[in-house]
Amino acid sequence: MDALRVQGGVRLSGTTSVDGSKNASLPAMAAAILSQGTVRLRDVPPLSDISNMQRLLAEIGCSVDTDDRDVTIRTTDPTSNHARYDIVRTMRASICVLGPLLAARGEARVSMPGGCAIGDRPVDLHLRGLEALGATIELDGGDIVARADRLRGTTIFLGGPFGSTVLGTANVMCAAALAEGTTIIESAACEPEVACVADLINAMGGDIRGAGSPRIEIHGVSELGDADMTIIPDRIVAGTLAMAAAMTNGDVQLTNFPHDHLLAVLDRLSLAGVQVERTDDSQHPARCDVRVTSARRLQPVLFTTQPYPGYPTDLQAQLMALLCMAEGNSIVTERIYPDRFLHVSELTRMGAKLIRNGPTVVVQGGCQLIGAPVMAGDLRGSAALILAGMAARGETIVHRVYHLDRGYVRLEAQLNALGAGIERFNAD
Ligand code: EPU
Repeated sequence: MDALRVQGGVRLSGTTSVDGSKNASLPAMAAAILSQGTVRLRDVPPLSDISNMQRLLAEIGCSVDTDDRDVTIRTTDPTSNHARYDIVRTMRASICVLGPLLAARGEARVSMPGGCAIGDRPVDLHLRGLEALGATIELDGGDIVARADRLRGTTIFLGGPFGSTVLGTANVMCAAALAEGTTIIESAACEPEVACVADLINAMGGDIRGAGSPRIEIHGVSELGDADMTIIPDRIVAGTLAMAAAMTNGDVQLTNFPHDHLLAVLDRLSLAGVQVERTDDSQHPARCDVRVTSARRLQPVLFTTQPYPGYPTDLQAQLMALLCMAEGNSIVTERIYPDRFLHVSELTRMGAKLIRNGPTVVVQGGCQLIGAPVMAGDLRGSAALILAGMAARGETIVHRVYHLDRGYVRLEAQLNALGAGIERFNAD
C-alpha cells in the first residue's frame, strides 16, 4: 500500500493550476445516461473515483472513451440497469446513477450504499424525491429497485435534518429532466456542482432554471441529446492548495481558481491572516488567477461547516490543521457530518492540541507540529495530514494514501513542483 514521506519545514512558491472538480464530474458522468446522443466532458480529473464511475457506466450499458482529461459517454445498451454492490461499495457516489437510470430506462437497480468512514450517510431524501415523481421503490437483496412507467413533475421539499443534499438534488433533478410537466425542488442544494450538472442537462436540450439556488424549476422534456461541456474547477482542491501555501508561509499563484465558489473559505482565511488576491482581470470569477500569501503569525478563527454557500465540510480538516499554528484558540463545529473527525487523533500524534466535544473541536493554537507516522482515515483528512506534515518539524509518514488518490490528482507531485519534499513509496 502506498504511503507518503513528507519533509517538514518547507516554504511553497511558484504557480500551479487547479484540476477539474471530482464532485461535479461524478454526477455529470451519471447524467450522461439521460442523453440519447454523445456527451463529452472536458477537464475530468484522472482519479480512482472517476475510473470507478467509468467502470460502473460501462457495466450499465454505456461506452466510455477517455482522451487525456476528456471523457466521452454514449448509451449502447439501454436494457442494462444494475449498479452492483461490488462497485457501489468502492464509491458511494455510485448512487447518482439512480435518478438518470430510472428516468432514461424506466427501472434502476442500485446497491444500497453501506457505512462510511465519515459517518452515517443515508439516501432517504434521494428516494423520497424520486417517489414524489411517481417512482415505486423497494429494497431487494440489498439493492434499491426504482421503477416508473412515466415520471410526473411535482413540487418536492428536499431538505433533511442536516439541510440540503448535494447528490440527492442531482438525482431528483436528473429524473425530473425527463419527467412529464414541471418539477419544483425546494430546499435544493445550492452547491456549484449541482449547477454544473444542470448546465450539462441544459446543454443536452433540457430546461432547468434556478440551479445554484434553493429553488430549482425543471421543465421536463421528452428527449435529451448531445452535449460538450468543461467541468468547473475543484473548489476543494483549490482551497487545499491555498491552505498548503499559507501553512508553509509560502507565496503561490493558483490558476483556474474558483474564487467565487470559495467566498466562505476566503472569508475565514482572511480573518486568519491569509491573503488570496485576484491577479487577473478576467470576467470569470469562478475560474481565475490568484496569489496566496500569509502573515507570519496566523490568527485563530471560529468556523462551522454548512451547506453551500457556507463553509464546506470537505475543507474542515485542512483548516483545522492550519489553525493548529494560529496564535490562540479556534473553535471548529461540524454540522454536516458530526463525526467527521478521524484526523483529530492523527493530528494529535503530531503534537496538535485538540479537544473534541461532540461535533465541536477546540484547537489550542500556537503549537509547533512535529513529524510522526500517521494513518489517513478518509480523503480530506489525508490532505490535512500532508499539510500538517509540510508545516511540521521533521519527517511525517502518511499511510493509506489511497484515500487521498480518490480526490487529488498526484497531490505530492503538484506540491513538489512548488518546492515541497514529498516522496511516495510502497509501505507494505
Ligand atoms: N443526508 C440525509 N439524507 C439523504 C442524503 C443526505 O440525511 O438522503 C444528510 C447526510 O447524512 C449529510 C447531509 O445530508 O449529513 C449532506 O449530505 P449530502 O447528501 O449533501 O452529501 P453527498 O451528496 O452524499 C457530497 C459530496 C461529499 C460532500 C457532501 C457535502 C460527492 C461525490 N460527494 O456528498 O464529498 O462532503 O456532498 O458537501 O459529491 C468528499 O469529496 O470528500 C466528500 C465526502
